Amino acid sequence: MNAYRASLLWFAPRSEGVARALFEKDGLLVVGPDLQGRQVVQAIGGYSTVSKQYPQVPVQHFPGRIIAPGFVDLHIHYPQIDVIGSPASGLLPWLENYTFPEENRFSAPDHSAQAATFFVAELLRNGVTTALTFATSHPESVNALFAEAQARRMRMITGLVLMDRHAPDFLVNQGQGSVSGTEQSLRDTESLIQRWHGVDRLGYAITPRFAPTSTDAQLRGAGELAKQFGDVWIQSHVAENKDEITWARELFPASRSYLATYDDFGLMRERAIYAHCIHFDDDDRALMRDTGAAAAISPTSNLFLGSGFFDYEGADRVGYQYGLASDVGGGTSFSPFHTMLAAYYVGREGQTKPGLSLTPQHLWWQHTAGAAGALGLDGANGGPAVGNLLPGCEADFVVLNPQATPLLARKTALASNLDELLFSLIVLGDDRLVEKTVISQAL
Ligand code: GUN
Ligand code: ZN
Repeated sequence: MNAYRASLLWFAPRSEGVARALFEKDGLLVVGPDLQGRQVVQAIGGYSTVSKQYPQVPVQHFPGRIIAPGFVDLHIHYPQIDVIGSPASGLLPWLENYTFPEENRFSAPDHSAQAATFFVAELLRNGVTTALTFATSHPESVNALFAEAQARRMRMITGLVLMDRHAPDFLVNQGQGSVSGTEQSLRDTESLIQRWHGVDRLGYAITPRFAPTSTDAQLRGAGELAKQFGDVWIQSHVAENKDEITWARELFPASRSYLATYDDFGLMRERAIYAHCIHFDDDDRALMRDTGAAAAISPTSNLFLGSGFFDYEGADRVGYQYGLASDVGGGTSFSPFHTMLAAYYVGREGQTKPGLSLTPQHLWWQHTAGAAGALGLDGANGGPAVGNLLPGCEADFVVLNPQATPLLARKTALASNLDELLFSLIVLGDDRLVEKTVISQAL
C-alpha cells in the first residue's frame, strides 16, 4: 500500500446528488490492491484521522499540491492531432478539406503507431486518464491505439470507424474479395471486440462516424452488434451543425429526428455516447433520458467550428446524462482546464438558449465523476469506477501545482473558499498545472 499526503479534491457519491465536491486541505489518500490486484483507493480523508488507521503505510508528501481524480475525456479523435487549428466555414467543409485527407494517413501502421504514442503521452501529460476515442476506418489504427494504451495502462475505449458511403474512396470501409466494405466493417468490428474488449483496462466502442456516412445496412449491422455485445460502448456524432442535420434528415426521412435515426437502428442504450447534441428538441432530450444514452459536450470544438451552444438548461430540465470532451481536432486543446473554461462560456451564452453560470464544482464534475458516470464507469453493480477518489475507485489521479505560474500563484493565494480556488484553476490552468499523472497499477 501507498499513501499520498496533499490537499485532496474528490466528489460525493452519485446517490447524494450530482456535482458536490469534497475537499481536505491537509488530506491523506491511501491506495492499495483490491481482490483482483488492481490498485484502488482504500481510504481518503483528513491526514490526522486517516494516518492513524494506516500507521504502517509509507507516505509521500506533496506540500502545497492538490491531488484530484484523473480526468475523463468523453470524445476525442486520435487521428486528428494534426488537424487542430484548421479553419473552415463549418463542420462539413472542415471534414472534407482537412479531416478526411488526414485520416487517410492512418492506413499505414507505422503512422498509426507513432501518432498513438504521441496521443497517449499528450493525454497523460494533460491529466487525462480515461478517454473515449475515435480511431479511423482502418483496423490498423485501432490496433495501434489499443496496443499503446495497454502499454501505458491507460483506460482507453476506441473502435473502428464505420463509414461506407459519402466519404472519399480512400476512407470508406474496404471490402475483401467478394465481401463488401459494409460486411467487412462489421466483421472487423466483431473481431476487434473479441481481441480487445475487456483486456486489461481497454474497452471497445462500436463507432458509426455519423448517420450520413453509413448506409442503412451498416447502421442496422452496428445495432445488431450493439445488442449482441451489451457491455461494449457505442459512439457517434449527432446534431452538431445545421447543414449536417439537413443532410441527415434527407437521408433518413422516416425517422422522427436526426437523433431518432440512431434509435431506429438500435444504437441508443446505456453506454452510447453521442458527441455534441446541440440542436435538440425536448423529444430528443427525452429519448436520451429514456434510453440511458449520454452526451459528450465539446465546447472548444463547438466554438471553433461555430456549431452552436449546448443547452444545459434543457438537458437538466429533461434530465439526461452528459460530460465534457475535448473533441480534438475540431476541439482546440487537450487540456481539461481549457475545456472546462469553454464550457463555462457556452453555459453563459444566452441568445440561442437560456444562459446560466455553471459552478466550478459542476464544471470539474463534468470532466471527472460525471463523465465516468455517463460511461457507466462509476462502480455501479460492482464494475470498475474511475473519475473519483472514493474508496474502491481505480487509483488514477493528478497532482496539481497551484503555483505553476506567477499568475496562478497570485490568484489561488487569494481564494477564500473552494469555489474560488477551483474557478481560478479552471480559468488560468493548462498543462503546466499538472505536475504528475498517476495511473492505477496492476500488481
Ligand atoms: N461529424 C462527423 N465526423 C466528425 C468529426 O470528425 N468531428 C466532428 N467534430 N464532427 C464530426
Ligand atoms: Zn468528434
